[in-house]
Parts: sequence; structure tokens; C-alpha cells
Amino acid sequence: MPTLKSQYAKARKVLPGGVNSSVRLNRALGVPFYVARARGSRVWSIEGREFIDLCCAHGAGLLGHAHPAIERALRKAMALGYANSFETEYHEELARKLCACIPCADRIRFCSSGSEATLHLIRACRAFTGRDKIIRVEGHFHGYHELIYIGGHPPPVAFGQNRVHPYLESPGIPAAFADFLIPVPFNDVAALTRAIADHGHEAAMVIMEPINYNSGGIMPQPGYLEAVRKLTRDAGIVLFFDEIQSAFKKSPGGAQGDFGVTPDVCTIGKAIGGGLPLSAFCGRAEIMDLFQPVGPVQHSGTFNAHLIPVLAGLAFLEEATKPRFYSHLRKLEGAFHSGVDQIIKTGDLGMIVPHHGARFNILLGRKTPALRYEDTFCHDKGLMLKIIKGCYDRGVYFHDYGGGPAHHGFSVQHTVQDIARVLDVLAEVLGKLKGRLR
Ligand SMILES: Cc1ncc(COP(=O)(O)O)c(C=O)c1O
Repeated sequence: MPTLKSQYAKARKVLPGGVNSSVRLNRALGVPFYVARARGSRVWSIEGREFIDLCCAHGAGLLGHAHPAIERALRKAMALGYANSFETEYHEELARKLCACIPCADRIRFCSSGSEATLHLIRACRAFTGRDKIIRVEGHFHGYHELIYIGGHPPPVAFGQNRVHPYLESPGIPAAFADFLIPVPFNDVAALTRAIADHGHEAAMVIMEPINYNSGGIMPQPGYLEAVRKLTRDAGIVLFFDEIQSAFKKSPGGAQGDFGVTPDVCTIGKAIGGGLPLSAFCGRAEIMDLFQPVGPVQHSGTFNAHLIPVLAGLAFLEEATKPRFYSHLRKLEGAFHSGVDQIIKTGDLGMIVPHHGARFNILLGRKTPALRYEDTFCHDKGLMLKIIKGCYDRGVYFHDYGGGPAHHGFSVQHTVQDIARVLDVLAEVLGKLKGRLR
């Protein structure tokens, strides 16, 4: 039987770092987590060990693994010959049903990943306004491409300069791209007001995660999203919610439905494909109708809206609109967080576990909610890796994102028994590390 180490040694010869997505190296294990198979709430490593999965495909696995509805969709796709690069009646059906769920969506277009979705929608926002600059929020993540992988997550040493020279998040991104970015802090109406006063005439959009799952689970403060909505509307700037992560996590309307603030456009992804690669961008008709062949803006692709993920998306939606779906997720959320809160309180631990629906973050080093990105600098990455390793040794898989205050979650196939087991493991692991959790 191969081991994680032996597979890593083999894979590194042909795949840089032995992986196809840089974040798949799990630093807590020192190797990527190579998986043999998955079903329901469980994954089995190639070493034959069974784990309760709390990565859930980085948020795409809201249905869990190998859900029967997805298996049926895959069989249907085979029966139809999965006609690719054609439109079918299923594309219209999925579009219509999603537009009925997402408040801002008059029209929608599909693609495969979150990064693709933000790229295309940024283009449309620029075309709509005739302006090039992007007001973005620090700590928020919108994909890995050159347009927006800038100024989101500067390391603490570069943070002070981020609003002057937005931080390039990868070598290879031309410095000139940073000229288009205007970073602002989250939850700060005054800062956004100033940014709009200074740059409103050249800013096409304000892009943000309505819930900042990508930096410790920072929630929008009461009134903040409403204020952003008003400021952007008054300035004629497109409000762009990136709901790649938040879509369907708590309700079919996404965070915009949960908070009652409707942007002009949004991206959705991850969960909507039921585990298959499907993402989408949607919004007001006058912006979406800029896309060719109605308007002049290009958005094409051989694999756009491939029939297999489209059928999986329909299967996902059918499940997600059954009454039991969110009532079960709410039950899991309630059980998990009352248990975690108790562990934190009993141990007087310096950590918080913010959550919204089926996704939560672990942020170490503070007892009160973070309001903005720099409030997460207290997080101890080395300690986070120890927590992940301790849970791994006991059969609970948390993915590692470089030890950061990342997001984790559960699926509709997790059970209250799974949650009870996770809580037992967390209590034991956190208990052992208590001295460092101040
Ligand atoms: C808010 C947000 N936007 C965009 C992306 C990029 O999505 P993908 O990894 O599918 O390209 C992610 C991925 O985590 C995300 O959380």
C-alpha cells in the first residue's frame, strides 16, 4: 500500500510540489493528503485511513461526497451522451431556477471556476461603466488571476504600504496591474466614502465578499453592507458581491438574501455544482446583456457550462430546495457551534470560530470578533498546524491553508454523530494545546 510520503515522492517528479493546486500541500502533514476514495461525510486516504471530512472541497462539497442525486445526474449525462459545447434545455432550466434564487440575478452565465467567474464579470463591469479601476477590500479573495490577485492579502510586513502600492500576491503579476486596484479596509464606511470621493470618477466597481470567509470569517457589521450599497449607487459604481463561497451556505439566496442587501452583480460557485466544476456570474439585465452576442463584451469558452456540471447543478438545486436540506444544515451548525463555544468557554481559550451556515473559520489569538483583515494578524499559524495535525491523528480532516485562519465546513451528508465525534476530537486536541491558546 502506498503511503502519503511515497506518493508525494512519486508525484513530485511530474507535478510541481506533487499537486495540481498549490494549496493542496498540507503543511500540517508535511505532504499533500492523497485520497483513495470518498463517500458521504468521509474520505479515505491512500493509506486506508478513514476521516470525517471538514474540508468539503473548500466549500464546494455542500452535498457531501457521491451524493445519490449527483450519481443520478452523472448517469443521465452518460445517457444523453453529455453533448458538450451545445446549449440544451437544461442550461435554460438551471439559469431560470438560479435567477429565481439569487436576488440580483436577472440573467446568468456559467463557467467552471470561481476565478473564471470573477474575471469575466470584472470585464463586464468595466465595459458598463467605461472605467477601469477596482475598489477592493483587504482580506477578501476573488481568484488567482492578474486582475485581482493584488492587494488582498499582504503579509503583515507589507501591510502598511498596501494602500499606497497594492501588494502583488504572486511573482509574475506585472506591477502595472496594481495601478488598477484601490484597496480599502472591510467594515469601514468612512474609508470607502473617502475612496469613492477620491476615485469614484475612475472606479468601475466595488468588489467584496459579503462575508469575509477568506480572512478568518469576518462578518459585515450591522449597517455596513447597506452603507456600501448606498455609496455605490449614489456614485454610479457597480456593486459586485463575490459569493463564490457564500452562495447557498445558509440559504438559496446567498449572503445577499441573508443580509437583505442586493448588489448589481455577483459571482456564485463552489456548492452550486454539487461537487462538479460549475460557477456562474449574474446580475442586472443591463450589465449582463453587454455580453456578446447581445452586446460587445466577449465571454466564450469550449467548456463553458459543460452539460455534466449543468445536470449536477440541477440535481444540487433540487436537493437544496427540499425543506430538510437547510433544516439539517442548521441542526449541524447549532450542534457544532454550541459544542465549540462550550469548549472555548470551559478552557478559557483565546480563539473564535465565526460561522455563517455550513462554513466556519478558526481564528486564533483573540476572543472578540475581527472587524478587518489586520485584526487577524494575531493568528498563530504554527499553532493552527498543530491543531490540524492533532485532529488528523484522530481521524478528523481539516485542510491546511498555510496555517491561516481559514474556512472549514460540513455537508448535508454529515450527521449529528459526526459532529459529536469532531467535538470530542477538538476538545482533546485543544485541551492539550491549552497553554498556547491564550
Ligand atoms: C470568494 C471567492 N472568490 C473566488 C474564489 C476562486 O474560486 P476557484 O478556486 O474556484 O477559482 C474563491 C475560492 O476559494 C473564493 O472563496
